[in-house]
Amino acid sequence: MSVTTATLTERVAERSWYHTLDLAPGVVTPGFFDTRPTVAHVPLPADLTGLRCLDVGTWDGFWAFEMERRGAASVTAIDIEDPERWDWPPQARFGETNEARLAYLRTFKSGASSFALAREVLGSQVERVDCSVYDLDPDVHGRFDLVFMGSLLLHLRDPVRALDRVRAVCSGEAVLAESIELFSTLARPRTATARLEGLDQSWWWQPNAAGFRRMVRSAGFRIEEQTGLYFLPTGAAHPRPPLHTAWRELATSGGRERIVTRVKGIPHTAVRAVPLG
Ligand SMILES: C[S@@+](CC[C@H](N)C(=O)[O-])C[C@H]1O[C@@H](n2cnc3c(N)ncnc32)[C@H](O)[C@@H]1O
Repeated sequence: MSVTTATLTERVAERSWYHTLDLAPGVVTPGFFDTRPTVAHVPLPADLTGLRCLDVGTWDGFWAFEMERRGAASVTAIDIEDPERWDWPPQARFGETNEARLAYLRTFKSGASSFALAREVLGSQVERVDCSVYDLDPDVHGRFDLVFMGSLLLHLRDPVRALDRVRAVCSGEAVLAESIELFSTLARPRTATARLEGLDQSWWWQPNAAGFRRMVRSAGFRIEEQTGLYFLPTGAAHPRPPLHTAWRELATSGGRERIVTRVKGIPHTAVRAVPLG
């Protein structure tokens, strides 16, 4: 291992990572998720040459770097730096049992620093801006030829309002890849549903695939392309409870979802959509 690789490996180890990023030969970040296999499923145009692109909720920047790699003229990546400003359910943020969880997240949430290291190593020009999706404003941010948003809506109290803001800054196409509920997607493929969580977990609405597409359309988009169900696999940093406890989890729907996550990953679906009007 060269000195440079050894130094980079140390700098990677000092940070926590959401994304699994190939930073250099032999240096891969230990992400909470491994987004790499999902690239084949997401309908992101292969050639983005000359386009002004936006990545909403970028974390370590996986999708922003991917858009840059595809030739984007510029990529802006927005995220919220401080987890206290996340739109999480109050019980998940302030509930007694979640003190430890929140403290953990404060440590875990180091997106700006991991993004900065990845940007430096990849020689990227992506600009990261501290901004909530709710605050996207064409008068402030301008309009983008392509907007990508991934795995964010479930953490928002008002997903349709967020989609409305995406539409407001989108002059071309939006590629939206979101977490969906597995069992209602399989059982009710044509009925738009969304289960309200909103208590001590970090998510509000869990739509099925039809529910997610309905949210997109109700925010004023026309869907041009949609994918089937695919899974976002967990990465090296994802907690892995011992499998021998799995039989107890089979008794609850939350437990069954955790088993699916462990074995396959988080169920997702994606669309490519254009704003109406
Ligand atoms: C589950 S991660 C998804 C990361 C990435 N978009 C992907 O698809 O791999 C959600 C990201 O959205 C960010 N986020 C949470 N609330 C947000 C908001 N209101 N506006 C913009 N980003 C937000 C989080 O900080 C985090 O980086």
